[in-house]
Amino acid sequence: MRFKVVLSVLVSLALIATAVVIFPACSSGQAMPFGEQEDVDFGTALWTAMADYQGWKMQSDFYPGGTPHGMFVRLYYNMVTVDGTPYHVIAKDNYGGEGVTLETLAADPTTPAMAVTVMVQREAGYDADNNDWFWVKYMGDGMIEKNADGMALAGRVAKGMEMGCIACHAKAKGGDYLFSNDH
Ligand code: HEC
Repeated sequence: MRFKVVLSVLVSLALIATAVVIFPACSSGQAMPFGEQEDVDFGTALWTAMADYQGWKMQSDFYPGGTPHGMFVRLYYNMVTVDGTPYHVIAKDNYGGEGVTLETLAADPTTPAMAVTVMVQREAGYDADNNDWFWVKYMGDGMIEKNADGMALAGRVAKGMEMGCIACHAKAKGGDYLFSNDH
């Protein structure tokens, strides 16, 4: 009898010890705020769903952009359905490079963008600290760009870091993470 009690105490202690050892290991393997498979999957599905974005009714003219996006930019807005859920999507073509001016863009609106940066308002709680925006940067051909560490720029991009989509857009007026409505 006494032996059984001692044994069960030992077993409990062993379980607790195992839990203590396992949990720190779990937290170090925690999902990153961006660049995970689900972020890439959403970004890829989004690109397919917004394939016709340059034909959206709500779009701006070409205008001079700000650092770091491109010398010239063009904005697009629409509701886009991804995996059955409709989302507010703001996309931006970023142009630059040798010889590109507002005049050359007006003359040839099919000039390929260097990069396409997109903000998607995700479901409440997706990123409650940062207005639930999903961020993604595509190259002109729709491939998702990666940072120097090889992480795909899709998801809560650079959340918690001093530089990147979230840190910079947090400075936009009104706390909405949008510069386009700041005057
Ligand atoms: C260093 C600051 C900075 C960083 C980093 C940054 N942006 Fe921006 N972003 C801006 C500014 C300034 C504008 C407005 C001028 C322009 O469009 O170039 C803007 C505009 C935008 C817009 C149009 C909506 C708006 O706010 O006007 C989108 C979409 C966007 N950025 C996406 C992104 C994504 C995605 C990333 C990360 C991959 C990113 N941005 C990183 C500064 C930044």
